[in-house]
Amino acid sequence: MTDTRGLRGVAAGQTAICTCGHEGRGLDYRGYRIEDLAANAGFEETAYLLLRGELPNADELAAFQNRLMQLRELPAAVKDALERIPANAHPMDAMRTACSMLGAVEPEDKDGQRAAERLLAFFPSALGYWYRFSQFGERAEVNTPDETIAGQLLRLISGEEPKVDHVAAMNISLVLYAEHEFNASTFTARVVTATLSDMHSATAAAIGALRGPLHGGANENAMALIERFSSPEEAAAGVAKMLAAKEKIMGFGHAVYKGGDPRSDIIKEQSRKLSRGHPHEHLFAVSEMIEAKMREKNAAVLFPNLDFYSASAYHFMGVPTPLFTPLFVVSRMSGWAAHILEQRADNRLIRPGADYIGPATRPFVPMAARK
Ligand code: COA
Repeated sequence: MTDTRGLRGVAAGQTAICTCGHEGRGLDYRGYRIEDLAANAGFEETAYLLLRGELPNADELAAFQNRLMQLRELPAAVKDALERIPANAHPMDAMRTACSMLGAVEPEDKDGQRAAERLLAFFPSALGYWYRFSQFGERAEVNTPDETIAGQLLRLISGEEPKVDHVAAMNISLVLYAEHEFNASTFTARVVTATLSDMHSATAAAIGALRGPLHGGANENAMALIERFSSPEEAAAGVAKMLAAKEKIMGFGHAVYKGGDPRSDIIKEQSRKLSRGHPHEHLFAVSEMIEAKMREKNAAVLFPNLDFYSASAYHFMGVPTPLFTPLFVVSRMSGWAAHILEQRADNRLIRPGADYIGPATRPFVPMAARK
């Protein structure tokens, strides 16, 4: 019997949205290379591409961005729900709850594109509102003057005018996180969608899948590891010990890529730039040492994935570690929504089979005869 656990290498459906790591190809969104998108397109432009299939022209982008700005406000019921979530809860609880509450007060109508835009605009506001209320007791104004989600997020997180280089780096990070084929959370969203459920249910389920440390939670764990070391030498010794103990090191390895993740070099460069002059500048050298030790062990498998250098990049932008995975939600909402709409356009219930490994059929044992 072949090992079907994890469905590695199994095509579980068709998609025209993204391809990654197949037949020597890197990562493309709708046929555009991730390197070109990260260098030339903002997050909103990328989200439009994912949702509509083509890059927007200038008018289309301006109109899309304007609609997203108009859709930022949070319903009173969502604010109320967010205020009741304990300050020490994980922010992913806040994201999942906010999504469910939005689905209850603004159920999806027939216009899937509109629901997608609302959710794209909603999550940055929900995250910022909950963060400022839970940490500082402030009821933040989520309608900030920022034209981009990157700027709005950074302003809500820092409570200050965002720095231009931070906004640029955040934009790149959101582009890199936007989409990744049939990853666990996206596949979850497609499974829920295939039952003809609504976009909020599919998204809440996807948030649940994303939260785990083997998926979106890896960036937070990577930061916790990096911060443990005060010098590259300490990091080298620490990582060697962890590898000897067969511990998994978050932010390395990938289920699809072998030998490298094309997104890692891009975010590593951002992290390097942001580290210069930062009080924790040494964390970049620590990160590079961790990468070197991992590659030394097994370069084909233990290369950094997107999460590893995203962790230090976010740290240098002043983003608190518990907000890393919620930022992934903000970005991946674009990919999730594109997949939800694609699934609906040619739907069939997703219901795979399983290799049975349980006992053969046997006679029922009456209660009195059981040990
Ligand atoms: N640290 C240490 N060892 C690792 C590792 C890591 N990050 N990633 C993989 N390995 C090891 C595995 O333990 C396994 O060793 P074994 O053959 O001795 O059992 C081998 O490399 C193959 O890994 P495997 O877990 O089979 O790969 P996978 O394709 O099933 O898993 C991940 C891919 C992403 C789940 C895995 O690499 C991982 O857990 N990474 C850390 C979490 C992470 O960064 N997730 C974000 C992904 S974008």
